[in-house]
Amino acid sequence: MDKPTLQGELVVLRPVAARDAAAMWEMVNDPEGRRLTGTVVEHTREQTDAWCATVSGREGRIDLAITQHDSDEFLGEIVLMDIDEHDANASLRMSMRPGQRGRGFGGEAIGLVLEHAFASPPHGLGLHRVALDVLEINPRARMLYESHGFEVEGRLREVHRDGEFWTDVIVMAILEDDYRAAQQVQDPER
Ligand SMILES: CC(C)(COP(=O)(O)OP(=O)(O)OC[C@H]1O[C@@H](n2cnc3c(N)ncnc32)[C@H](O)[C@@H]1OP(=O)(O)O)[C@@H](O)C(=O)NCCC(=O)NCCS
Repeated sequence: MDKPTLQGELVVLRPVAARDAAAMWEMVNDPEGRRLTGTVVEHTREQTDAWCATVSGREGRIDLAITQHDSDEFLGEIVLMDIDEHDANASLRMSMRPGQRGRGFGGEAIGLVLEHAFASPPHGLGLHRVALDVLEINPRARMLYESHGFEVEGRLREVHRDGEFWTDVIVMAILEDDYRAAQQVQDPER
């Protein structure tokens, strides 16, 4: 599977590479990011180095670094994974580095990845559905996904421990038709 480079107005998405390891390491150890993504697993720096060096060669997933046009620095990542060619389904996850949130980069990155996911081959993956999980404690991410056309499909009640409390996982997905409808609302000329 070819790993694309996607160009937006604010961001350039390109495959994650070995040179991203230090920035990835900072991101995966950020306490707020870990809480909001429900991350419990711990990785060593060596594992992160090896992951960044090899992930672009893995089948069934596309791990893209979020960068800017004038800098190749890794600002965050957006990942399409569990790409199932038979059912034309995939899952999405994303995270920005702590100092890079709220700058519009994540929103543009989702739009670029969805366009790639739903475009017909050979330009895109020709997917039918993209799903994701978001925690109840993360309304900013949930609103962002809704604004791109994701629908809430269900809720896993109190499945995750958030400090002393329990929190729900909200299951969301966007179908190609939802995506096209959201595009039409944003730009009636399309
Ligand atoms: C969720 C995340 C990936 C979004 O990326 P981002 O670059 O911060 O998003 P954007 O700057 O494009 O903003 C997206 C929306 O959130 C809003 N937003 C941004 N910062 C905000 C803040 N501090 N509080 C509330 N809303 C905020 C923006 O107004 C924007 O809404 P709009 O499109 O209606 O204007 C990023 O914030 C992040 O990494 N968070 C921590 C990890 C995480 O939650 N990952 C997702 C797990 S499901």
